[in-house]
Amino acid sequence: MAGESVADKSVENRILTTEYIQDDAHIENSLRPKTFETYIGQKKVKETIKVFIEAAKMRKEQLDHVLLYGPPGLGKTTLATIIAHEMNVNVKITSGPAIEKPGEMAAILNNLNPGDILFIDEIHRLNRHVEEVLYPAMEDFAIDILIGKGSSARSIRLDLPKFTLIGATTRLGLLSSPLRDRFGVIHRLEFYKESELIEILNRSAQVLDVKMDKDGASEMARRSRGTPWLANRFLNRVRDFAQVKYAGDITKEVAEYALNTLEVDPLGLDKIDRKMILTMIEKYNGGPVGLDTLAASIGEESETIEDVYEPYLMQLGMINRTPRGRVATDFCYKHFGIQRNSDGHNK
Ligand code: ADE
Repeated sequence: MAGESVADKSVENRILTTEYIQDDAHIENSLRPKTFETYIGQKKVKETIKVFIEAAKMRKEQLDHVLLYGPPGLGKTTLATIIAHEMNVNVKITSGPAIEKPGEMAAILNNLNPGDILFIDEIHRLNRHVEEVLYPAMEDFAIDILIGKGSSARSIRLDLPKFTLIGATTRLGLLSSPLRDRFGVIHRLEFYKESELIEILNRSAQVLDVKMDKDGASEMARRSRGTPWLANRFLNRVRDFAQVKYAGDITKEVAEYALNTLEVDPLGLDKIDRKMILTMIEKYNGGPVGLDTLAASIGEESETIEDVYEPYLMQLGMINRTPRGRVATDFCYKHFGIQRNSDGHNK
């Protein structure tokens, strides 16, 4: 049927295979844990979700809808694929900006099999019309389709297979409350501890068959901003330096050399962090400075600063958010070797 093939094509276009998600995707996929046993960290989230999975399996029901939020790179997609694996169901992966029209969302939902998981990354970026298709889908496993136009228009309800929606967002605050309220399980993913990143790096080094000593792993973990995605990325790059410039194994010396060359400092700050902080200190006397002003000064998007850079800088205690804007802390001045005068001006 012609209508069917159009719908199918539309679904294919909107469902992203994992290859589209990030660079180095094929390597990343091989490093991605497939089960809870091999998934390190996020203990609280893991333990609670395991209970919900077991309960759903005992009742032979689909898992309740799950919302995962927190800074990027902490394993939201990985968790979704593990949940699918543990539930023995398929996962379809897409993202908020990839679905432009309500009909596309309807087609994706209609193509799911019973029990399937639909993972929507960046769910806060769904437009309102698309989002509204999700309300009856999540609540009643149905979609309302409008047929005809004008006075003869009527709505028919189409039943959907019972599915689980896993939404991921870096910004819980940007999610509308009708959408947020339809998730039965909401969890925040936290930055990983250094010891957890070391475990992840050890596992990844084994998968990649590269030798790495303890100090080499610690050095990379320390500079990975609490983020497994970065740790694995660094491992790949440091491995390249080890092969080309050294004897092949990863040691502290190789890790330091490689990461210094990549302009990642001992606390994991990169060029953009430094530019942002030095602008705050040198141009705005350490703040307070508004987010948009700061973003414009360094030529970055406010959203990128808020999602990617700021959470880690705040966790480190380098910057604080105040009602009047962002401020650089004493620790920040110290890290950058800049003295703050008592009148607030820099020396
Ligand atoms: N790779 C990415 N995230 C991971 C995690 N939480 N545990 C193990 N390997 C990972």
